[in-house]
Amino acid sequence: MIAIYRFLALMFAFSALANCGVVYRGSKWEADVFERRGLRARQASSSSSSSSSSSASSSSSSASSSSGSSDVPAFQYGTADPNYPGVQATGPNGDTNPDEPSLNTPINQTSVARLASLNSVDDWCTFGPLDNTQTLGDVEDRTVAWCTKPRNNARVIPDGTVTAAHFVKTPLYVQVMARGDFTKIGFQEGDTGGELDPHGATGKGNPVGGNVTSNVTGKDVFYEEWMNYVGSTIMCFRICIAGSDEAPPKTECQHTLDEMGCWNIMPGNYEDNMFETCDADAAYPPGIYVSDGSTSSFQQYATGIWTDNGQIKTYTNGVSTQTTPTTAMSTPSSSNCQTVSTIANGIKSIIPTSSSSSASGSSGSSKGGAAAASSSGSSGDSSSGSSSDSSHNGGVASVRPAMVPAMVAAAAVLLGSLVL
Ligand SMILES: *[C@@H]1O[C@H](CO)[C@@H](O)[C@H](O)[C@H]1NC(C)=O
Ligand SMILES: *[C@@H]1O[C@H](CO)[C@@H](O)[C@H](O)[C@H]1NC(C)=O
Ligand SMILES: *[C@@H]1O[C@H](CO)[C@@H](O)[C@H](O)[C@H]1NC(C)=O
Repeated sequence: MIAIYRFLALMFAFSALANCGVVYRGSKWEADVFERRGLRARQASSSSSSSSSSSASSSSSSASSSSGSSDVPAFQYGTADPNYPGVQATGPNGDTNPDEPSLNTPINQTSVARLASLNSVDDWCTFGPLDNTQTLGDVEDRTVAWCTKPRNNARVIPDGTVTAAHFVKTPLYVQVMARGDFTKIGFQEGDTGGELDPHGATGKGNPVGGNVTSNVTGKDVFYEEWMNYVGSTIMCFRICIAGSDEAPPKTECQHTLDEMGCWNIMPGNYEDNMFETCDADAAYPPGIYVSDGSTSSFQQYATGIWTDNGQIKTYTNGVSTQTTPTTAMSTPSSSNCQTVSTIANGIKSIIPTSSSSSASGSSGSSKGGAAAASSSGSSGDSSSGSSSDSSHNGGVASVRPAMVPAMVAAAAVLLGSLVL
């Protein structure tokens, strides 16, 4: 009985928190867990196992991977297993999705299909708004798939929208990092965007019915854990395709740090006007920082109450004056990079959704893209961020005031259940 209650409470808390983008773990507890699972980076000599790390001097990584310190050892995650529990999807596909991903489906720019595929530098999708009447943060649960090719019954991203795309395959995930004018796919100008993931308030995904596939293993596979951060000028999308005890898919695709933006959550090459495909090492899980042999984790600031055997207690995650990290732990080494001059589907007749310069309700400050671009030029400085806990720095939305009560309640339930 109690076990069931705790389970339900956990599920509720996780889904509500996932939706609100708040980190749910106490740092001590989290550090211990990561410690136990061996996430602590070994200060091993870097000439070890990873086959791609020796190619760190490939042109693409040296061109852009200047964030994070170069002397950080690569993340040691054990053996990446494509059949690790929680990697492949087991639940039902979304109601508005085709049963299987496929190319050359009819073009329908009012489609509400929500099946996103990440297959290659010129065959990928992002979630995005239905139209540009609202910011992404207001419509996350209703976003739809926009794809570079006509596929999955989804909407097609018109040629000329994407100005850079970097496709990276690692042992634990595939990732696309893109730049462009996403006002052509429903974003308002200056929209710093938001974060899509498979959990959301209902547990059915954000968007509800959002699902993902990749065929990098040689066949189309539906995966369970993913994260997609996108705003009007930048997008990043990671699908976890394998796992290990050190890097379960929920950890490697941990998507709740939504103040941090693409560059931090999904480190890699965000250089504009460049289209490339690379192999890469897997990045440290989002928010995990290793220094002098000890592991710490960043968590967004939040306070609230929880009930311990009928007693009301308060908790604080993080500190109100904390600095949100502005660089990732490290930028993974990449190798085997192949560039193409551009990507295009050649379809002339796609009519973009009207790209409004008169959009209201958006700040006009394009922190998302700017943050990614400028941090790629700074080297290894993880302490130069704003000291305000309400600042955001990239491709992402804030925790909106309306969400706070739900989030606090959810955190309270979760913390309660952890302690009980
Ligand atoms: C679709 O997404 C839901 C919500 O994240 C998930 O539970 C389910 O396993 C996914 N199904 C497929 C086929 O990907
Ligand atoms: C396009 O998708 C919308 C939403 O699913 C649907 O109502 C409409 O009938 C579709 N149009 C065509 C031509 O299939
Ligand atoms: C993935 O799908 C694309 C398009 O359908 C195809 O061109 C490519 O060869 C596939 N990749 C693999 C590894 O099967």
